Amino acid sequence: MHKVDFEMVEMTLDVMKYAIGRLTHPSPELGKPKNEAELKALVGETITPLGIGGEKAFNLFKDVLIKATVPIDHPRHLAFVPASPTKAAVMFDLVTSASSIHGAYWMEGAGGIFCENEAMKWLVSLTGLPEGAFGVFTSGGTAANLSAMVTAREFWRKDPSNRGKKGIVITSSGAHSSVKAMAKVIDCDVLLVETEEEMTSKALKEKITSLDPQERQRLFAVVATGGTTNAGIIDDLFGIGDLCQEENLWFHVDAAYGGGALASKTARSLFKGLEKADSITIDPHKWLFSPYDCGAILYREPELAKEAHSQEGSYLEIFNDDGARGFNPSDYQIQLTRRVRGLPLWFSLAMHGTDKYSWAVDRGIELANLAGELITKNPLVELVREPSLSCVVFRRLGWSSEDYTKWTYKNQREGFALVTPTKFKVQGEYETVARFCFINPATTEEDISMILASME
Ligand SMILES: Cc1ncc(COP(=O)(O)O)c(C=O)c1O
Repeated sequence: MHKVDFEMVEMTLDVMKYAIGRLTHPSPELGKPKNEAELKALVGETITPLGIGGEKAFNLFKDVLIKATVPIDHPRHLAFVPASPTKAAVMFDLVTSASSIHGAYWMEGAGGIFCENEAMKWLVSLTGLPEGAFGVFTSGGTAANLSAMVTAREFWRKDPSNRGKKGIVITSSGAHSSVKAMAKVIDCDVLLVETEEEMTSKALKEKITSLDPQERQRLFAVVATGGTTNAGIIDDLFGIGDLCQEENLWFHVDAAYGGGALASKTARSLFKGLEKADSITIDPHKWLFSPYDCGAILYREPELAKEAHSQEGSYLEIFNDDGARGFNPSDYQIQLTRRVRGLPLWFSLAMHGTDKYSWAVDRGIELANLAGELITKNPLVELVREPSLSCVVFRRLGWSSEDYTKWTYKNQREGFALVTPTKFKVQGEYETVARFCFINPATTEEDISMILASME
C-alpha cells in the first residue's frame, strides 16, 4: 500500500485527470440522493479482505456514488449556505493532502502554519480588531463558536466566585443553531432575545435587566450574529459591543457566513462595532471561497484562548522547549491533531490577490440585489424583506408549505437547481417562504430568472 509502483502511478494520473475534469466543468451535474439500499445494490461489496482494486473502486465512485451527491458549487445551488471554492484553493487542497503536514504544532508544521498565519493576518485586518488580535483555522463555524464559548466561560471562571456555576449565554432567535448546540456541549443555558430581525442593544439591555441576581451572575457572554444564516441580518454590533463592555460580558460575534462580506470594501461598513468583539467566527468555506472544511476563530486576546485550550501531557512537553518554540494552532481551539486547513485559502489569496476576493464577494451581493429586482417585477412572487448581504427571502403568492417542498424536490429530481424553503417570522407568525443565498460568482441573472420561472 505504501510502495510506489506502476499501479500507484496510474491511479495518481486517473485521480488528477478526474480532478482537472471536475474543476474545469462549468456546471457539474446536480446529483440527487438515493437511499442506502439502492446505493448498495448498485455498488455491491466494496470493503473485502483482498480489495476490489483502485480502478474498480474509483469507477464506482465516478459512475454511481458522485451522482448521488449535490455539488455545492453548482451555480443554481442557492440553498442553505452554498460554497464555491476557487480552482486554486481546490488544487491546493490536493497539495495539502499530499504534503502530510501536522498542523497542531510549529515544531512539525512551521512552513504550513506560516502560510495559514499569513492568511489569518489578512482576516484579522478586515475586522478592525486591535494589535495583538489573532486566530486559527478550525473545521468550521460550529467548532469556532465552541472554541470561543469555552474561552469565554474559562475567562469568567477565573473569578473564584464563578467556579462550579453553570453559565448563561444570551443570543437572539436569529442566531445559528450551532450556538445553542454548542451551549449544550459546555453545559450552559441559553437565553434568547426573541427576534429574527436585528438584535438591538436596547432589546439586549431589557433581557439582561430581566434577569434575577443569581442569573445575572451566571451570565458570561453575548453571542451576536454578523449575518444571520436565514436572511443575512447583522445585529447592532456597535451598541451590543458597548453594552457588553459596560456589563463586563464576553462579546462573541458569529460571522461564520456574513464575515466574508468584510472582504467587500462597500459592505464592510455594515459591521461597525465588530472591532469591539472579544472573539469572531468567520468561515472561509462559506463566503471566502475555500473548500470544505475551513472555519476560523479570531480572538482580541489570544492568550485567553491559550489558557483555555492548550493541552498538557508528558508526550507534549517537547513543545514547551525553546528549540520547538513557535505558534501552535492547537493551543487556541478545541482540536489537537489538525489538517493545515487554511493552506488552500492562503494559496488562493497569494495567487489571486485580495482585490479579486473583494470583487467575488461584491458579486454575491449584486446577485442578491438583482434577484430582489426580478422578484419585485414578477407578479407571482414578493419579497418578504429587502435582500441583506447575499440572502433573499421571498414568497410565492398563494403557495402552501407543501407547495414549496414539492417545488424543491422537483427541481432537484430534474437536476435543475437546489433551492430550499425556510421559515421566517412575519407579523409574529412563522411563514414558509423561499430563500436564495448567493455565494457563487458564476451564478447568472438567467439562472435566477429560470428558478423564478420554475415557480409559475
Ligand atoms: C451564522 C452561522 N454560524 C455557524 C454556522 C455553522 O458553521 P459550520 O457548518 O461550518 O459548522 C453556520 C452555518 O451555516 C452559520 O451560518
